Amino acid sequence: GFCMDKGNSTIESRLSANGKTLLEKRYLLRDAEGKVAEEPGELFARVAKTIARVDSRYGYDVEKTEDDFYQVMADLEFLPNSPTLMNAGTELGQLSACFVLPVEDSLKSIFKSLQDMSLIHQSGGGTGFSFSNLRPKGDIVGSTNGVASGPLSFMTIFDKATDVIKQGGRRRGANMGVLRVDHPDIIEFIRAKEDEELLRNFNLSVGVTDEFMEAVSQDRDYALINPRTGKIEKRLKAKDVFDRIVTCACRTGDPGLLFLDEINRRHPLSTIGTIESTNPCGEVPLLPYESCNLGSINLAQMVKEGAIDWEKLKQTVHTGVHFLDNVIDANKYPLPQIGQRTKQNRKIGLGVMGFAAMLARLGIPYDCREGIATAEKVMKFTQDESVQKSVELGEQRGSFPNFHRSALARDYPAMRNATVNTVAPTGSLSIIANTTSGIEPMFALTYRRNVMGTRLTEIDPVFEEIARKHGFYSSQLMEEIAGTGSLQTSPNIPEQTRRIFATALEIQPRWHVRMQAAFQKHVDNAVAKTVNLPHEATVEDFREVYMLAYRLKCKGIAAYRYGSKAEQVLEIGNAG
Ligand code: CDP
Repeated sequence: GFCMDKGNSTIESRLSANGKTLLEKRYLLRDAEGKVAEEPGELFARVAKTIARVDSRYGYDVEKTEDDFYQVMADLEFLPNSPTLMNAGTELGQLSACFVLPVEDSLKSIFKSLQDMSLIHQSGGGTGFSFSNLRPKGDIVGSTNGVASGPLSFMTIFDKATDVIKQGGRRRGANMGVLRVDHPDIIEFIRAKEDEELLRNFNLSVGVTDEFMEAVSQDRDYALINPRTGKIEKRLKAKDVFDRIVTCACRTGDPGLLFLDEINRRHPLSTIGTIESTNPCGEVPLLPYESCNLGSINLAQMVKEGAIDWEKLKQTVHTGVHFLDNVIDANKYPLPQIGQRTKQNRKIGLGVMGFAAMLARLGIPYDCREGIATAEKVMKFTQDESVQKSVELGEQRGSFPNFHRSALARDYPAMRNATVNTVAPTGSLSIIANTTSGIEPMFALTYRRNVMGTRLTEIDPVFEEIARKHGFYSSQLMEEIAGTGSLQTSPNIPEQTRRIFATALEIQPRWHVRMQAAFQKHVDNAVAKTVNLPHEATVEDFREVYMLAYRLKCKGIAAYRYGSKAEQVLEIGNAG
């Protein structure tokens, strides 16, 4: 076993002030009076113990597993998604971040999913829905001779319910709403966020097909189909619809796109069902009632003496896959159906965070060939090792029950998990791990962050570290860049250093997309990435980004123009 006292003091020294604040506010257990009742070290010990215990079923050395799990978390080398940190070892015990629920064309189905959503949000999970099966607005309702309200009006009910529940007060409920591009209500869906008050708890994605994308390129029209009757309602010019999409995205940040054909081509369970939606941030395509638990490796910690430490990365990947597979068994599912479906496929999503910080430590800029090549190399290695570990677990513990119905059975002798990798946004995890989020470039070298109403100011820790190491750190320089968060106009900074610290808005949009595509090549789920564009970005920029994402075989795309929402998570500048 590990020595807890020693563990605690080293953890305390490793955590940043922001990381500690966040843990205290939202993660550490509280007693009946609401007082914080655990230390960060105890949190990691609680999680490690709960997740390692599963190993006793398979005859493993539970204590060794518990030590391994504890160590990777305490060293901030690997963290499981927020619900696992919050709920492992508690009465609630719900450990997954990602769910997809079905919405069929009946009031019964719609309101069942609404109820299921509320239970999932209450337990800290996020939900995705396809509303494509609902009959359009104005269509016939047979039982009452009435008129159907259409997907948009039902979505507003899900949105309102999300407001009321607020995930047990610990985070805002998050949803993905998808509508197929050939649904008759598609234009209303595309324009929904023009009203800033509408659907605030939803990310919206238009589900597009190859056929539609080709019709855009060739300037053809395409059919809108009533899902209830299967009949064509009318035809639209694909280009006009695409124009609407990019115009609204430029104005409001929504909608994004989901490339449904690419998602389903690469889904190993195509014989079992067709994927219509992802979780809220887009990184996990799921069948209805599936859930997925995520975990992220902190790549910034995988650098030793200016080079990638492959052996350490390999060990961390193996521990991460083992950990996430155990989570499936340790989990208390919010609904029996979700437990069943999840255990049939045992999807997990091991990903990475701190990629930009890793590049900075390696001295490689993000927006260049070498940056992209590094991404591919790291993710390919991570994927190969993840698969290898899942095969090993499959041989020892049995493959996931649907294995022989899956495409994976052609290539592997056994496999424990239908999917192994995902790149999550790591919005909270990256603060705890004190590194850059997911695969995003640094947002700014100094910034303010809004977390549940609290404003935190930060100097990017990797920037500070490297500035000190290379001797250009000075309080005067920090003052100077506090307003813009950028090094680009500072004299006396070497060109290469400036390139390495180019921030999200200074990186050309196409490099953002290329980076997403580079990771997607070696990820079986999907990749969460926001293409951040400067305030001046135009509709044409959005068109280029969305088209390029399709050409490079991304599974989806989301872009955001700085300042296009009144309330945003990240802001540049010094705290007033
Ligand atoms: O860093 P953390 O584990 O908290 O979450 P993330 O990587 O930023 O987001 C991963 C997933 O968690 C999202 O895609 C959602 O499915 C879910 N999530 C949520 O339900 N509610 C939030 N406020 C944030 C994330």
